[in-house]
This record gives sequence, structure tokens and C-alpha cells, in this order.
Amino acid sequence: MTAYTDLQTEIEGEIAAAADLAALDVVRVSALGKTGRISGLLKTLGSLPPEERKTTGAAINAVRDAISASLEARKDVLEAAHLAERLARERIDLSLPSAPRPKGGVHPTLQVMDEMIAIFADMGFEVAEGPDIEDDFHNFTALNFPEKHPAREMHDTFFFNPDENGVRKLLRTHTSPVQIRSMISGKPPFRLIVPGRVFRCDSDQTHTPMFHQIEGLVIDKTAHMGHLKWVLETFISRFFETDSVTTQFRPHHFPFTEPSAEMDVRCSWEKGELKVGTGDSWLEILGCGMVHPNVLRACGVDPDEYQGFAWGMGVDRLTMLKYGVPDLRDMFAADTRWLGHYGFSGFAAPNSASGLS
Ligand code: DAH
Repeated sequence: MTAYTDLQTEIEGEIAAAADLAALDVVRVSALGKTGRISGLLKTLGSLPPEERKTTGAAINAVRDAISASLEARKDVLEAAHLAERLARERIDLSLPSAPRPKGGVHPTLQVMDEMIAIFADMGFEVAEGPDIEDDFHNFTALNFPEKHPAREMHDTFFFNPDENGVRKLLRTHTSPVQIRSMISGKPPFRLIVPGRVFRCDSDQTHTPMFHQIEGLVIDKTAHMGHLKWVLETFISRFFETDSVTTQFRPHHFPFTEPSAEMDVRCSWEKGELKVGTGDSWLEILGCGMVHPNVLRACGVDPDEYQGFAWGMGVDRLTMLKYGVPDLRDMFAADTRWLGHYGFSGFAAPNSASGLS
């Protein structure tokens, strides 16, 4: 039996020397695996005379059992050591300060854009977009601005240098050109809103060269001023979260609408805080009107068959009013302290189910 004892000692030595669980497994396979050393011994039994087979078989099995037990024991030791090592390595120091709040946040203007989109989407409006760099046709001509008309100057347009064909591109001065793009590329009826950046060469306490607008357009066979009033009052009611909305429409002039109006909302200012719905003040919110037949014609829409209304409003100013931001210029200063105070969590995306603000 010395052959078995020697083999057992050899394997036990290997087990004791296995430094980790992977090494121990290699030993296990080489001893007890299908083609392992002990299994090899068991296979020789068949060639032995029957009387020897019994004792030899018992002896080999005893060696196998002893090695299995040693493997188990070593495994327990190595697992305990592994756990102890992990516990030591992964120790948590509870006296450390907690992880700092991530810097940055969603800019209030973008948050308000999302609020507005959620409200109008609920009413069945789709979102349309267009380029920041526009041409004269979409920004002015198709919107019924007469050639050389002072209304073009009114917009303090940023023009690019003329290209090789002498054509001057410009930064869009309003979101209205997307009305044109949408009507030319689509088919009536239309019910869309256009959130976006616009640019004017103007900078003082209440103006910045870049600001945000949201445009609205409804074209079908019957849309009229009454619908316009309902859409805008419903919007204001949801945006400012109040049931009592009173509006007034003052006659105005825009080349692309006829008649045109500016809409004011009844409000009060108490200790500098805006309250929409009650009071003796009026807040100018937007420009609007019935789309001019010339605009429809420029887009290939027959004004004898279709009609509709449009509006455009400044998003930054409504953001300041809703969230009490005192200075317009801070909105564009990219100051992370300001954003930390006025910004919104990226997880607070407005939607009509869980609330808008
Ligand atoms: N585009 C106008 C502006 O920037 C705002 C506006 C007024 C848009 C009336 C409209 C509208 O669609 O009907 O001053």
C-alpha cells in the first residue's frame, strides 16, 4: 500500500501549498477529476484478481475520501482568508464626509421650455424645429415683411458676410421662420409649437443678444380668434398654476398676422412677488394674431380654404416671472453658483402626470 500512501502524501502536500481557491481547484481536478490520478488508480481495479480487488478498492477509496476531506478543509481555510482580506480592504470609514452633491443642473429656461412643451403636447401640439442660421426668405419675406420695410430694421438682425453669390445669411430673429418651413414641407392641418433660440443685436438690462422663444401655429379650415384665446388662456392657467386667468388683447402690428394683438394677463405684484390671476396690473406675455393670407400663400397653402392663428412668446422672461429670477443677464452668465441655486435636477423632467414644476 505504500504506493497509495506516497500518492496521498504528495497530493496532501499540493493541497497544503495551494495559495488560493483557483490553485486548489487545479489540484482537485488533477487528483479526483475524470482523468485524475486517483480516478486512474480506480480504473486499474478491473484488471486485478477478484480477491485483491476488494482490499485494493477499499484502500483507494480510503485515499480518495481522505483527499476529499483535505480539499474541503483547505477550501474552508482559503475562503475564510479571502473573506477576511476583502473585509479588511473594503472597510468603510463612516467618519468621512458624504459624497459631494454633483455640480450643475438643468437651466431654468430649459426647464420652462420642457414645462411649456408638456402643456402644449397635452393639448395635441407637436414640436417643430428649424435652423438658427436662416435666410432672408424664411425670416422676413415669406412672413410678409415688405422689401426694405423698416420692420426688418426693427429686429436688429445679425447678418453674416455675403457668400460667393452675394447672399447674406442671418441669425434668425424669431422662431416664426419655422412656421414657413413647416407649412412648406407639410400638409395642413397644422398644430405645432416651436421652441428655440433667437438672436438680436441688442444688449441692456432687459435684452440679451440671444434669448428663447416659443412659437405656436394652428392652421385648419375653421380655426379662429376664439380658439386662440382658449389655447393661450388654458396655457397660462396651467403654466402659472391658477384657475382665475383674465387676459386682454391689445391691437398691435405684426406683418405676418392680421389682425394682430398683444396679450396681457391680469396680475398683482406684492412685495415684489408676482401673482397671476388677481390684481390691478397687466403683464404683457406675447404677440399673436390670425395668420396673414400672404403668409399662407407663400407656403403654398390656399387662404380661401385654410385659416389659422399663431403666437410667439419670450421664454426667458416667463421663466424669470415664474421662478423669481431678478436679473435677465444672470440667466446667461454661466455662473455655476447661480445655476446651483436656480437650476433644476436632471431627474425633475416636467410632465403632465407627475406635475410641471
Ligand atoms: N415673431 C414675433 C416677435 O418675435 C412674435 C410673434 C408675434 C409671433 C405674433 C407670432 C405672432 O407667431 O403671430 O416679435
